[in-house]
Amino acid sequence: MMGLLEALARPLMGLMEAENAHRLAVRALQWTPLVPPAGEDALLAVRAFGINFPNPVGMAAGFDKHGEVPDALFRLGFGFVEVGTVTPLPQPGNPRPRLFRLGSDEGVINRLGFNSEGAQAVLRRLAARANCGGIVGVNVGANKESIDRIADYVSQIELFAPVATYFTCNISSPNTPGLRELQQGKVFDEFLSRVIDARARMSRQTGIAPVLIKIAPDLSLSELDDIVGAARRYRVDGMIVGNTTVARPSWLRDRETAQEAGGLSGRPLFALATRMLAETFVRVEGAFPLIGVGGIDSGKTALAKIKAGASLVQLYSSLVFRGVGVVAEIKKTLVEALREGQHAGLAELVGMDAAALTAEAWPDIK
Ligand SMILES: Cc1cc2nc3c(=O)[nH]c(=O)nc-3n(C[C@H](O)[C@H](O)[C@H](O)COP(=O)(O)O)c2cc1C
Repeated sequence: MMGLLEALARPLMGLMEAENAHRLAVRALQWTPLVPPAGEDALLAVRAFGINFPNPVGMAAGFDKHGEVPDALFRLGFGFVEVGTVTPLPQPGNPRPRLFRLGSDEGVINRLGFNSEGAQAVLRRLAARANCGGIVGVNVGANKESIDRIADYVSQIELFAPVATYFTCNISSPNTPGLRELQQGKVFDEFLSRVIDARARMSRQTGIAPVLIKIAPDLSLSELDDIVGAARRYRVDGMIVGNTTVARPSWLRDRETAQEAGGLSGRPLFALATRMLAETFVRVEGAFPLIGVGGIDSGKTALAKIKAGASLVQLYSSLVFRGVGVVAEIKKTLVEALREGQHAGLAELVGMDAAALTAEAWPDIK
């Protein structure tokens, strides 16, 4: 059903202004009766952060910012859905246009700037579907005008604890001025101390909800050393590598759109994000699992992320260019790879190429 609708709608949506096309996609998911996917292959099951994932392919943050369609996304075959980024108070984000496709590069640039309906609206939606099951992560961020940004993360961990399977702290969006400074030095230490304290408090009240940190792919390796060191000291549950990049590779074909300010995602991000994932993996030394995201558009690229160090993967941009069929194709490829190598599960592949990747020349992103 969705395949048919998609085949009819995609050429049309490709002509629409990108943000209108996104709204239409969310509306279609809200109103299309979707059949749950056939039973999941047990080989795809992953246990990470104390959670049992039916399959390792997640919907990355930013598609369902307001928690409108998690259940439809499960029916498309995603093993988990990350809602958000949510901010405590509603805010409009940046002026439009703020979302751009780089068609010939299969990339996207966005400078949405945390447009959010606010935590209360999202909480109401997630509470209404709380009995439906499924792994729903809540990605939290800070309001642009907030005086105490760290408090925005803490208050939302407290608020969403009853409905979130896990939390992602997004401190790596390039579109809120100053936000990425939370990744640095003493500020990051204070951030972790307060957020991990909130996790402890809430776990006593509502049960454990793991807290993951989503980082930028643009960090220097010495910044990454510090971040991983602090994350290990404070015992965060995991990290997501990573967010969109502010880099603009010179080889982008859509030169004009590439001038737009914002974060670049999709295919042009793959090499950089995968390298940063491998760099993170070798520094984490198994202390916690990683989610790999950035440029996954096929089974092959998903497998490469896993071998670079990802226990789980997420994607967003490739849905725009490849459609929802990409999820089934990834799962099929992963099962085939596991069968072929006679592996008992994906855990056996995680990070097997990480060390070799970190010895390669730095990806050409300038
Ligand atoms: C339109 C758009 C909006 C996004 N919004 C968010 C967001 O609100 N929070 C967040 O953590 N990441 C956000 N992201 C980043 C994605 O979650 C992901 O990290 C990034 O796009 C790389 O994955 P991809 O190449 O598969 O798209 C957004 C990405 C896009 C394209």
